[in-house]
Amino acid sequence: MRDLVNEMTSCLSVDGVRITRKGKALLDVEHLSMDGPGPTLILGPNGSGKSLLLRCLHGLIVPDRGQVRQDGVVLNAEHKARQAMVFQQPVLLRRSVAANLDFVLKRQGLSRSARKARIEELLTEGGLDGKARQSARSLSGGEAQRLAILRALALDPETLFLDEPTSALDPSATQMIERMILRASTRGVRIVMVTHDIGQARRLAADIVMMQGGHVVEHGAAKQILDAPESDASRRYLAGGLVT
Ligand SMILES: Nc1ncnc2c1ncn2[C@@H]1O[C@H](COP(=O)(O)OP(=O)(O)O)[C@@H](O)[C@H]1O
Ligand SMILES: [Mg+2]
Repeated sequence: MRDLVNEMTSCLSVDGVRITRKGKALLDVEHLSMDGPGPTLILGPNGSGKSLLLRCLHGLIVPDRGQVRQDGVVLNAEHKARQAMVFQQPVLLRRSVAANLDFVLKRQGLSRSARKARIEELLTEGGLDGKARQSARSLSGGEAQRLAILRALALDPETLFLDEPTSALDPSATQMIERMILRASTRGVRIVMVTHDIGQARRLAADIVMMQGGHVVEHGAAKQILDAPESDASRRYLAGGLVT
């Protein structure tokens, strides 16, 4: 088990990160520091660099300049091994629900009986009891996304990145996923999540990162940003409602 006290003081930060393609800066973040205990939600219009930022934080893209740091140390393989990511479209193996979880648990070197117990626990956590033997490909969109999140949680990650995990789902499927995310956050998993759903940001976020044109235009407490944004870009985005 991770040390909850350490967890609360862990810090994920970005300094001078830039990604340039064909002479154009797609991402240009001078400084961003995420060290609060609650979920961080990244908001901003389409093409503002939300997914690129998430990929940088997860080490999937190495920026042209600048650094991502975990607790002050430049992101390394050990850090990455303690991160997990969930995408908008769940990526699942063509196997049973249980096998999708077992695959991850095996790589962690758990014994057969420990894996079996952990799978049960995870299925209950995701409201997928009784679906262990079902083909993952036959799950509904919401169930498939819950399984993808469970598979990420099976890694016992320090940080969980989610890129618009509910944007293809209806309100009740969305609500189940939001509850899973909040429970994970309460257990001490750092949540960094992209959404274009302002209501979702209001429900989940402790702090909000507002992006525009590859820049972080504002970062602060969710309530402050949602109720009294300081930047014009944030005001425009929030006034537009569900801008995509
Ligand atoms: N691999 C890439 N090559 C060139 N341009 C890219 C690449 N990935 C993303 N972009 C561009 O970078 C900008 C930010 O993309 P992205 O982070 O996906 O936006 P968001 O997730 O906020 O909608 C967009 O203009 C997009 O077209
Ligand atoms: Mg995106």
